Amino acid sequence: MNFPVTRLRRLRRTEAMRSLVRETHLRPDSFIYPLFICPGEGVRKEISSMPGVFNLSIDEAMKEAETCAALGIGGLMLFGVPAEKDKDEQGTGAWADDGLVQTALRAFKKNRTLDPLLLMADVCLCEYTSHGHCGLVARDGEHYQIQNDSSVALLAKAAASLAAAGADIVAPSDMMDGRIAAMRDALDAGGHEQIPIMSYASKFASAFYGPFREAAGSTPQFGDRRSYQMDGANLREAMREIDQDIVEGADMILMKPAMPYLDVIYAARERCDVPLGAYQVSGEYSMLHAAFQRGWLEQDRAMMESLLSIRRAGADFIITYFAKDAARLLA
Ligand code: PBG
Repeated sequence: MNFPVTRLRRLRRTEAMRSLVRETHLRPDSFIYPLFICPGEGVRKEISSMPGVFNLSIDEAMKEAETCAALGIGGLMLFGVPAEKDKDEQGTGAWADDGLVQTALRAFKKNRTLDPLLLMADVCLCEYTSHGHCGLVARDGEHYQIQNDSSVALLAKAAASLAAAGADIVAPSDMMDGRIAAMRDALDAGGHEQIPIMSYASKFASAFYGPFREAAGSTPQFGDRRSYQMDGANLREAMREIDQDIVEGADMILMKPAMPYLDVIYAARERCDVPLGAYQVSGEYSMLHAAFQRGWLEQDRAMMESLLSIRRAGADFIITYFAKDAARLLA
């Protein structure tokens, strides 16, 4: 490597040269676009902290899905945003046959133009529980605990119900122990042995979910999620979470958040061979948009650079609120 024989700038001289030696690529079909499904008709309510992202009734979500299919996006991640009055302590709406996401899935499956899209369903209770936690709550005066095993039973029911409604992939984001094995059993028992589980294997208790909780109305009414989501300081523990989910039968794993945890994505990629996705979460989107609005960052370039960093760290695909914008730029 002795200069002047070696001159690394030779391969950067023209765009044709740079393109030839580019190591990492972005493609529309490796983006997954999240959709927030709410009750009603003709509803399109923008989330104040997430410009361009909406709560959508099923008819409006259908239009959004058609746009995504036309752009060549890989799939959708569906979340339900029920009315407050339809929430309860158990999160019954998560596994209701006529739940919001179940109904949306049935409608989407009838629309042939959506065939190229993978329909992924987030599996969690927090959008459906009155207390906003991802599992069942046991209270004892001032103290409370999020119960594990009883929550897992309900989450498994939710996974089976979403598969029955037409989900191509179920994606548990609750972080209870043992949920993957329970979901595999429930899926198989329901005749859904072909439906893969994509586990949010390493999900950190993060401040970057803030805007999502506004979008999904899922802010915990008391306490926080730190007894089930992971401590942001722990890389080794993230590896144990991943190993555990794979042993229990996860077909793919998700890493979340993305940009503040690129080292975790990299370590996961080095360690295991299952397909690996990363979730560029709401707060990552919001903070970039805040800077775009002020003219502090150049929108298209910063967006693409953020996505590239996640792919370069080792993610095969990215769940991102930028999916449509990035796909348009790549067209
Ligand atoms: C539900 C869930 C959350 C996200 C995805 N699934 C919120 C949370 O755990 O509080 C966050 C997604 C985002 O911030 O974009 N458990």
